[in-house]
This record gives sequence, C-alpha cells and structure tokens, in this order.
Amino acid sequence: MQIENIENQDLVNRLHKFGQSHVLQFWNELESVQKNKLIKQLESFDFELIEKLTGLAAIQSPWEKLAQNAEVPPAITLDQQTAGEAPYQRARATGTAALAAGKVGMILVAGGQGTRLGFDHPKGMFPIGPVSERSLYQMHFEQVLGRSRQFGVQIPLYVMTSPPTHDETTQFLTDHQFFGMDPADVKIFCQGVMPAVDKEGKLLLETKSRVFVSPDGHGGTLEALARSGCLEDANTRGIEHLFYGQVDNPLIQTCDPALVGYHLNSDSEMTSQVVRKTDWSQKVGNVVSINGKVQIIEYSDLPEKYAKQTTADGALKLWAGSIAVHLFKLEFLNHSLGQAGSLPFHLANKKVPYLDASGKQVKPDTPNAIKFERFIFDLLPLAKNAIVCEVKAEDGFCAVKNAPPAKTETPQHVKKAISDLHTRWLLAIGAKVAPKVMIEINPMFAADVESLENKIPAGTEISETTYFQ
Ligand code: UTP
Repeated sequence: MQIENIENQDLVNRLHKFGQSHVLQFWNELESVQKNKLIKQLESFDFELIEKLTGLAAIQSPWEKLAQNAEVPPAITLDQQTAGEAPYQRARATGTAALAAGKVGMILVAGGQGTRLGFDHPKGMFPIGPVSERSLYQMHFEQVLGRSRQFGVQIPLYVMTSPPTHDETTQFLTDHQFFGMDPADVKIFCQGVMPAVDKEGKLLLETKSRVFVSPDGHGGTLEALARSGCLEDANTRGIEHLFYGQVDNPLIQTCDPALVGYHLNSDSEMTSQVVRKTDWSQKVGNVVSINGKVQIIEYSDLPEKYAKQTTADGALKLWAGSIAVHLFKLEFLNHSLGQAGSLPFHLANKKVPYLDASGKQVKPDTPNAIKFERFIFDLLPLAKNAIVCEVKAEDGFCAVKNAPPAKTETPQHVKKAISDLHTRWLLAIGAKVAPKVMIEINPMFAADVESLENKIPAGTEISETTYFQ
C-alpha cells in the first residue's frame, strides 16, 4: 500500500523492519489529527524490546527448577500475641521514632483497570466504607492522615495512576480536596504503557488510528516514580523509606510502626508483608527463599506438586502468600533504577479486542494476545537483608477484585472484613459490641488498637451500627 503524506520515513522503515507495517493499513482514511496521534504513539514504542519480549514467549520459564529449591522464608509474625512481647515493642519504638522523624512516605498504586470488578470508574473511587460508604481513595488518604497526626508529621503520599485512570482520578481527588491532606503532600504520577502483540508478534489496532496499549504492570512504579520527579521529591524531603500498598486493599496497615521497626532493625532494603495461605491453590504470589534470596513465585507459575507440599504436621510448606504490601529503602530504589533490566517483563495471555484487516472489531472469546507487565516484587531478590513479616489476613488483607456473584473478594466481603476488624479492635480494648452490628472506625479517630485504647473506655457497650469519626 502507498502511504501518503508521511514525514517520518524512518518510522515507516522501522515498522517494515520489525514486521509491523500493518498498523498503518488505514492511514489513508485518517484525518490529520488522527495521523499525528498515531505517529506520536508509534514513535514512543521500543520495537527492539517488543521483538525481544515476543521471542521469550516460546522459551520455557524456569519455574519448575526454582520451585524445586524453594524453601520457606524466615518470617516475623505481627499479631495480637507478639504485640505483647519485647521484640515487637522494640520494633514499634524504632518504627515510631522513624515515622516521627518524617523518614517514611507512602506509595499507593492505582493504575490497574479493575476489569474484574466491572466498575465504570477508577477502582479507587469505589465506595467501600461499610457504614460511611467512603471510597477506597478516601479510606487510604485518611489512613495516611491518621498516621501523620499520630506521629505529628506530614507523610507524603505518591499515588500512581495510569493513562486510563489518570484524569478521572486527578479530578476526583481534587474535587474532594485530597480528603483533608495538604495538596503539597500528594503527588499523582502516571505509569507507562506497553503494547500487546498477537500470537504472531503483531501489534493490535484498537481503532484505525490507535494501537492497543495497557498499563505496564505495578512494576512500572519504579520508572514512573523517577520519570515524574517523585523519587527526587522523596529524596529532597529526607524520606528514607517508602511504604507501598495497592488501592484495592482497604485493610492495609498503613505505615505500621512495628513493620517499619522490624525493617529498620534488620537493615532490610525491602520488607514484604505476607499472610498464611489457607489453601494450596489460593491466588496469591508465593513468597519463598531460594538459595538464601527472598523472592515471589506467582500462583500461576508454581507447579501444583510444589504448591501442595506439606510439612510433617500436615501444614502447607510454602505457606507465605504475598499481599503486595512492601516497605522499600529509598536508597535501594535509587540504586535499582540505575540497573538496567532490574525488573523483567512477565508475559500473560489475555483477550484483547482488535480491528481485523477489513476494519471490523473482533471481540475474542479466548486469549488472543500477549501482554507485557512488570511486577514490583521482582525487586525482592535484589534487595539486601530482605525480610518477611506475617500478618493475619483478617488484620491486613482483603482486596476488592470481583463483582458479585463471585465467591471471594467482592465488595460485600470487603465491607464485612472492615467491620469485623474494627469490631475486634473494640473487643480488644474491652468494649462490648452487640451481634450483627456493623462497625467502622475512621483512622482520624483511631489508627490502630493502641490508639483506640485512649479513646473508648473499657466496658463501653455498642448496641447499634456505628461509624466512629
Ligand atoms: P490487579 O492485578 O489486581 O489489577 O492489580 P486490577 O486492575 O486491580 O484488576 P483486574 O485484574 O483488571 O480485575 C493489583 C493492584 O496493582 C495496581 C492496581 O491498581 C491494584 O491496586 N496496578 C495493576 C497498577 O497500579 N498498575 C498496573 O499496571 C496493574
């Protein structure tokens, strides 16, 4: 086909060289604005990288070999029982001092498209407060604010969006005045995207003037933090550690002082929170230790026979499930950024609608495309002295993933989990809560059990659904 009026001949040659000329098949039908947009998009692609990654699809991953050598990582338990013990108290004191000295900031990643939930807006806008109906964003922002007040500092919050979620998120947060946070302490930054390819390695057209792209995975955080100037902002503020959490988990123990303390006392470059898996097939990343290095094997990559291994007492051997809560030493992030390829791309087979050669949209029923994503947890094996801290799932992990009638991780499950957690906090300080009553505690009222103790006298009776704020 003759390509009319195209200035960037070098791009046309590159497309030809990499077998991707079909993306210009509707060129002659496009308006000039559309042409410019398409050219700009194509100029942003790294064709060498796309070709190299596509080639990896045929290569067998070494999971079998890694799984053979996978051992349980050494883990510290954070729960009500250990909370009474001296090592925990020491860690909490260390963490408290670091937080009060303004050395800890937070990254909240919210660049995913939330396809399973089927909500028409960025997932962070989803109302999840069991009594208040606060959005996921409001819950996270107030958690940061609660901690800031608890430690008498301003904890900066870096929110990662992606091109599909950026504008609406920025508008929403601005409209709600950052839920009380100082706007100077909130930085919204946008992660990158990657194109997908079909089984022949060809880019897919989403429209006649646009190649399909999707967010490059939460591993895109590192590059995006740097590109946006957020890493520099954190360095300039004297931040030394960044707490990392995902927007869909409202139970995150935001900047938990005990976690910060254990991380500091171990001189860990990256600390990960885990939960004990309830079932071998639970869909969480498996945190393991291989040749002394902590790392995560995704549930989909761990061969069944290794996932099912048990210890002498019948418990799961590889029990540590990742909940995507991490704490990074900032120096480590600065350093990792300079190491090319420190985060590899993972390949996933997905269903991606596309235009066929006649310009008709095809909605595939089975996976037709390979998407490329980076995972933030791939930094773990690169980190010195990485440690793992176990929390009870009911205390720190319940993510909103699915729409009803799914059996797990629906908004209904998550609302109940929040209410159950806050009810347990009340019981722990000696209050009495009537059965079936829904409870929600705003972190500005109390950020954890310890701070609740000063607010509500033991013996207080709560007989109706209550939102403490
Ligand atoms: P998930 O992988 O569960 O994706 O992301 P999701 O977008 O929430 O939901 P589905 O899979 O489309 O249904 C876990 C966390 O990582 C963030 C998400 O926003 C969520 O907080 N994430 C995921 C990103 O920030 N960027 C990405 O590219 C992918």
